[in-house]
Amino acid sequence: MSQPSQFAVFGHPIAHSLSPRIHQGFAQQFGIALEYRAIDAMPEAFAGAVRAFFAAGGAGANVTLPHKAAALALADERSEAAARAGIANVLTRLPDGRLAAHNSDGAGLVRDLTERHGVDLRGRDALLLGAGGAARAAAWSLLDAGVQTLTIVNRTPETADALADAIGEPARVHTRYWQDLANLGSYDLILNATSAGVLGNGLKLPMSLVGARALCYDLAYGPAAIDFIAWAKAAGARHAWDGLGMLVEQAAAAFELWHGQQPDTEPVYQALRAGI
Ligand code: ATR
Repeated sequence: MSQPSQFAVFGHPIAHSLSPRIHQGFAQQFGIALEYRAIDAMPEAFAGAVRAFFAAGGAGANVTLPHKAAALALADERSEAAARAGIANVLTRLPDGRLAAHNSDGAGLVRDLTERHGVDLRGRDALLLGAGGAARAAAWSLLDAGVQTLTIVNRTPETADALADAIGEPARVHTRYWQDLANLGSYDLILNATSAGVLGNGLKLPMSLVGARALCYDLAYGPAAIDFIAWAKAAGARHAWDGLGMLVEQAAAAFELWHGQQPDTEPVYQALRAGI
């Protein structure tokens, strides 16, 4: 009998990663036997650990914090989404053994919003909080999905300006100062792509940002999203969602790259939702 294919997620810390569960759940749908490990790698050991994994026959890897920029840097080829975001969350082995970097986070976000939550993104005025890797991945995908305008606000304004410049659509993409949030009026769609919740720091956001029918979305999930969701609900948002669905959808996109099959994400999502 042949060995099951080898997959892994690299991060630090990584012990609580849901990725092994998600990928095993998808694999079961197709009767695919695979091994999916969580590998804790310190930043200085990351590139070596990835190369050793693929040299030993690894078929594909997910990459999470804090290695997403390093994953892009070490790859021999980059998908357009990874190059635009400046970070990668998926590595695949090319037939000649070289590595290709992909980013499925933005596609995962859009799929969660449009397919799970039934949101029509076209024509919406969106506010994106943050301009780091997660925000970069989200920004292009939201624009591709048809949001009318995207206002990027980051604590460090230069990073927001750099992202807007890189996108290069001045008629649709604007930047504003963080300290002016209270003067910006309201938005249809507000996305929290900062790492404030992950770092355990609450954001102080004005309730005036939340329009009457606003949809609020935190790209993080679990405890990291609690403050933003509570703020959105208190401000009267029509819906406030965390990023658990995005996590499952970005995994599904990686699964499709590796196995050429599109998994049914709903049962896996529901099982994880019941557990958090
Ligand atoms: P990620 O990969 O999660 O996007 P990142 O690239 O380090 O991580 O980006 C973190 C983002 O969260 C940045 O936009 C950061 O703002 P700065 O560019 O000013 O650092 C934002 N962020 C983190 N903590 C924050 C806080 N307490 N308030 C506001 N923004 C915060």
